[in-house]
Amino acid sequence: MKKRIAILPGDGIGKEVTRGAVDVLQAIGERFGHRFSFSYGKIGGGAVDEMGTPLPDETIELCKNSDAVLLGAVGGPKWDQIPVHLRPERGLLKIRKELDLYANLRPTIYYSSLADASPLKKEVIEDVDLLMVRELTGGLYFGKPSERSTQDGRDVVVDTLFYQKEEMTRVIKLAFELAKNRGGKVTSVDKANVLESSRMWREVAEEVAKDFPEVTLEHMLVDNAAMQMVRNPKQFDVVVTENMFGDILSDEASVLTGSLGMLPSASISEKGPYLYEPIHGSAPDIEGQNIANPLATILSVAMMLRLSFGLETEAQAVESSVNEVLNNGYRTRDIASPGKKLVSTTEMVEEVKATILENEATQSIMSCYV
Ligand code: IPM
Ligand code: MG
Repeated sequence: MKKRIAILPGDGIGKEVTRGAVDVLQAIGERFGHRFSFSYGKIGGGAVDEMGTPLPDETIELCKNSDAVLLGAVGGPKWDQIPVHLRPERGLLKIRKELDLYANLRPTIYYSSLADASPLKKEVIEDVDLLMVRELTGGLYFGKPSERSTQDGRDVVVDTLFYQKEEMTRVIKLAFELAKNRGGKVTSVDKANVLESSRMWREVAEEVAKDFPEVTLEHMLVDNAAMQMVRNPKQFDVVVTENMFGDILSDEASVLTGSLGMLPSASISEKGPYLYEPIHGSAPDIEGQNIANPLATILSVAMMLRLSFGLETEAQAVESSVNEVLNNGYRTRDIASPGKKLVSTTEMVEEVKATILENEATQSIMSCYV
């Protein structure tokens, strides 16, 4: 199989982790006989410095002409003071909109080898297998107006939470389709006791549920969901929610696996190409030190192999290699624990690559997403 992949390393540790993930893709190509070609594009603060915009048109074109996109991370204190339209995060939001990436899938699974890396008790997190489906192109992130002004001599500000019903329907429907092939349960998270948008969200969830009699739907208020996520995360299968709630809850969910450095994500559209990125940020404080955890990006590549290319065996080869490397005691600093082998970013990548090239594909520990 031949595939063109756009790589957008972005800022901070984005460059280091995407380099590692590209190495892993090359190892997969070598072992399974695929040809992956990589083209690089700029996004984020680096793009602002070099080209005066956080998302150059060339990058949009590159992504649209690729079979899949891999993104590192954007942002850093260097760009904190620049005008808001030039903020590195704007590049990320714009690429999501340009590619119409309406759903962001964020799986959280339990790695027994990392049980002590989580601040939560082992019995609480054991066997957690949760898939967060976050709406990604609507809500507060994109609503207009979003601005400051002065009214009667007072400084005021407005952000707008806007959704078309159809935007809710498509992402909720996807959550049900995914749940059908997993645990058969959808938890729809909203704030229907306060927000009109959430009341519509709840109605849409009820409507969609009618077409999926085999899937159980429950509604949960977002404040309660935040509490339940750490109190009893095993109760969740697929969680679907709007953009802002999903942003907040998915960082919370990452704690269940032990580190933000472990969580991959896939952002999908109706037509493709899809975009894959770790859920962590650019971590400017550790940039260039070769200590970042590359596993979230490597696991994002596994999602790419599965969801964009339909290469299930190859996806499982990546996931089972990551699992094996962790079982063998290799740890980057964020998941370090006494008695384990502390390794750098590049050493971790080498371990995963070597395992891929040596092993026969073994049964994956990840669930099937679609
Ligand atoms: C994420 C990030 C982004 C978001 C930021 C960097 C704009 O936090 O992907 O979760 O809020 O969506
Ligand atoms: Mg976030």
